[in-house]
Amino acid sequence: MSDLTPRPEDKFSFGLWTVGWQGTDVFGPASRSLLDPVEATYQLAELGAAAVSFHDDDLLPDEDARDATLERYKKALAETGLVTEMVTTNLFSDPVFKEGALTANDRRVRRHAVAKVLRNLDLAAELGAETFVVWGGREGAEHGGGKDVRAALDRMKEAIDLFCSYVLRQGYDLRFALEPKPNEPRGDILLPTIGHALAFIDELEHPDLVGLNPEVGHEEMAGLNFAQGIAQAAWHGKLFHIDLNGQHGPRFDQDLRFGAGNLRGAFWAVDALLGSGTAPAYDGYVHFDYKPPRAEAIDGVWSSAASCMRNYLLLRERALAFRADPEVTEALAAAKVGELATPTLEPGETLAALREEEHDLTALRERGTAMEALDQLAMEHLLGAR
Ligand code: GCO
Ligand code: MN
Ligand code: MN
Repeated sequence: MSDLTPRPEDKFSFGLWTVGWQGTDVFGPASRSLLDPVEATYQLAELGAAAVSFHDDDLLPDEDARDATLERYKKALAETGLVTEMVTTNLFSDPVFKEGALTANDRRVRRHAVAKVLRNLDLAAELGAETFVVWGGREGAEHGGGKDVRAALDRMKEAIDLFCSYVLRQGYDLRFALEPKPNEPRGDILLPTIGHALAFIDELEHPDLVGLNPEVGHEEMAGLNFAQGIAQAAWHGKLFHIDLNGQHGPRFDQDLRFGAGNLRGAFWAVDALLGSGTAPAYDGYVHFDYKPPRAEAIDGVWSSAASCMRNYLLLRERALAFRADPEVTEALAAAKVGELATPTLEPGETLAALREEEHDLTALRERGTAMEALDQLAMEHLLGAR
């Protein structure tokens, strides 16, 4: 087994809200005491992270302590070498956002939400973040008649267009990443999946500035295949950022540590990130957005954070071994996986030639596809049997 120590070049990153989650849920209050976000930054550096991310309110919940906390945070970054790679805005906790933020029916709420984001964009730029995530947790509805979906999309577009123009005007080197989620906390959230969000980006004024931050659990809550989803996002040039965690199929958002839940899905997600077939490798931060289970005390918080990175490294090792295995190369050839990269038409070929071609359809019907053998090889690598 290779060295599984996280290295700066692995580009591991954690949201400060992940280890900072106190275990509050719909059925009970906090099970852990408040973690100082600056202390968490030092601890994450100790564990091997290269970067952190935060919502404005994770780091700076208290306006009076804003300057002092920022100063302590910047000192922590300087001392550890960590960077702030991503910043995002909390547009969901304050009850002011109970009926949405950027798409609230009440215009005053929308104006307040936009102002909160603008202030946070200034902070993101000041800290040198590359990515600004927009997760519309409260942008949605529980009642069919309560939300004009077309108008909500107009307002979402208005807000994102406005943020993009602001960033361009200020000369900030920031890109936006929309994070899809099907539900929770709203019954139904706008831009629920990677596909919805990709289509929305096409309607924006500055589509080049806007990509995605897909999260494993969110796609799986919708019963979708995460590896396929990020492959399509990357195909559109929109895989700007990623939220890795674990999920056991369609149910509430579990935010398990990466590798827990759907392990095979995690294997294929890592394989996709490494760049397989015709896909280039993802070179952004490997960002974990998970929640240390409520039943854990602080030692369990840190061990689960370390496990996210360790599981990624283990899966990376397995995925690389799978791709390097000569039997896999043969199995890929037997399954004609590479052939899919050949265009269906020859260059310059006419459709008439294609239409006239005769195929032995009986043989094609009866052919084997060799997919099971290929998949079993993947399984054996994943299980450490090869
Ligand atoms: C979730 C979401 C959030 C967002 C984060 C960024 O689990 O519901 O992932 O954690 O990623 O708030 O704005
Ligand atoms: Mn989640
Ligand atoms: Mn997330």
